[in-house]
Order: sequence, then structure tokens, then C-alpha cells
Amino acid sequence: MLLSQSPAATHPQPQLPTSSSSSSRRTHRSAPPCSRAGAAPAAAESLLPPGLRAESLPRHVAVVMDGNSRWARARGMPSAFGHEAGRRALEDTLRLSRAWGIRALTAFAFSHENWSRPKLEVDFLMGLFERVINDSVAEFLRDGIRLRVIGDCSRLPASLQRTAREAEEATRTNSQLDLTLAISYSGRRDVVQACRSLAEQVRAGLLRPEDIDESLFAGELETSRGSDELLPCPDLLIRTSGELRLSNFLLWQSAYSELFFTDTLWPDFGEADYLEALCSFQSRDRRFGRRNL
Ligand code: IPE
Ligand code: MG
Repeated sequence: MLLSQSPAATHPQPQLPTSSSSSSRRTHRSAPPCSRAGAAPAAAESLLPPGLRAESLPRHVAVVMDGNSRWARARGMPSAFGHEAGRRALEDTLRLSRAWGIRALTAFAFSHENWSRPKLEVDFLMGLFERVINDSVAEFLRDGIRLRVIGDCSRLPASLQRTAREAEEATRTNSQLDLTLAISYSGRRDVVQACRSLAEQVRAGLLRPEDIDESLFAGELETSRGSDELLPCPDLLIRTSGELRLSNFLLWQSAYSELFFTDTLWPDFGEADYLEALCSFQSRDRRFGRRNL
């Protein structure tokens, strides 16, 4: 779905997608794909904690959920224990995002590089993702949450692929909040598959090289899959656990994201941490290269 670059306090209804093919031509907005923080829906204003301003909340928050294993280890437990606790932190973050009027949440659940972890842990995580999606679909339908799973789905167990596809289909017309789970995701791979898709369109005579611009390119990224129009780039990108890097997450899309790093381990990430990140975001001067006179 799309949250277009609209003036504060106006939130156009999302377009229903008409195509799910990454290589199909899309209607691209003339405006740049990355946008400034927009407004929260008026209905959410009363639920906002003191200190947050509805008119300058991020529309799209991305999170690198890191530190599950350290959290578990500190308790003498295996990593699976930390991943289960991380699931609860994600559910809390989703609930708060919805309550506060944030319209898109993208969570890095499993990177392309995470395939190199022990098979036991990888198998646990794949099972966890399937359970999370299965257990949440009814709630997503009730709360108007649209789910997308991005990443190299071909590497996922068949049952997880099926569960993800069915949940995406079931929630396709929801428009309160876009939840994107990045599983087996690589930002570099995302850029490469977008290049490949455009190259194929050129080869097929559907496109001229000189027609390729940032907007067209962004439309081929996995974060745009299944929509006629573009999801806004993350306004705020949060990483937990004290690591100060992007680790191959949303490389194109984070070009103008405000970054927030916290030492809090992901399973401990709660309302106070989220508030701190949002308050920090609201204190930033987002100039996008312009000079403020
Ligand atoms: C993040 O926690 C979850 C995944 C990457 C799947 P980690 O398991 O990376 O936890 P740390 O960073 O090793 O503590
Ligand atoms: Mg880690």
C-alpha cells in the first residue's frame, strides 16, 4: 500500500494492488520515493504519550531487532529463549505503533547472512516465524494490519512460504498499518534483483535505459512488491543491542532515514525505549540537503 507524500493530517486511503509481479510496469509517482515524516491519524492523537507530537511522527519505522542471543545467554538460556522473548518485543512494538498512528513498521527478522548460523537455531527461527504469522492473522484482520514478507522466499521452508503467502493474501486490503517482515533479506540482493528486473524490461522492449530513474528503480525493490504505488522509505531506523551498523538492511530505502541506536537488547525493547527513539526522531532537523534559512 501507499502512504503518499501528503500534507500533515491527510492520509489518503491506500490503493488496492492490481499486480504482484515485480517485473510488471507500475504507475510511479513523480515525487521522490523517500519522504519526510508525515502526520499520524487524528484518531491516534488522544493515545499519544506526552512528549510526542502527532504531526511529526515517522510514518514508517524500521527496526533491526538485535541482541536476542545475548539476552538469552545472560540468563543461562539457549538462543531460542531470546528469540521467543524477541517475538514479544515485536508484538509490543507493533501494538504501540498502531496505537500511536505509525503507518508502517518493517522488522529485520532474519538476514541472508543468518543462514550461516547452526541448523538447530535456523530451524527454530523458521518455525517461530511460521507460528508468529499463523497466530497473528486473526489479529491482523481485526486491527487492519497488512502483512508482507520480503526477502529470498525460495530459501524458506515450503510451509513457511505457504503461510506467508496466505497471510499476505488474507490481509491484502488492510490499510491501518503495513507490517513488513524481512526474512532471508539482503539489501544488496534487493538492489540486484531490482536491476535484473529493469534489465529484463529493457531487453523485452518495454523500457528504454534512459527511462530508468530513482522512482522507477524504487518501484522494483521488494518493499514495493504487490503495490501499485510506493511504500514510503523508513523515516526512522532503530537498531538495538549497541551495534552501530545497518548489516545489509534496506540499503537503498534508508538513504534518508534518521538512525537511532540503543544499547537495549531487543527482548527488553519496550515502550520507554520506543518513546525515546521517537522523541529523538522528533528532535531532528530533517533538511534533505536543503539549507534552512
Ligand atoms: C537477533 O538476535 C535475531 C536474529 C538475528 C535472528 P541475535 O541472535 O543476533 O542476538 P545477538 O546479537 O547474537 O545477541
Ligand atoms: Mg545479532
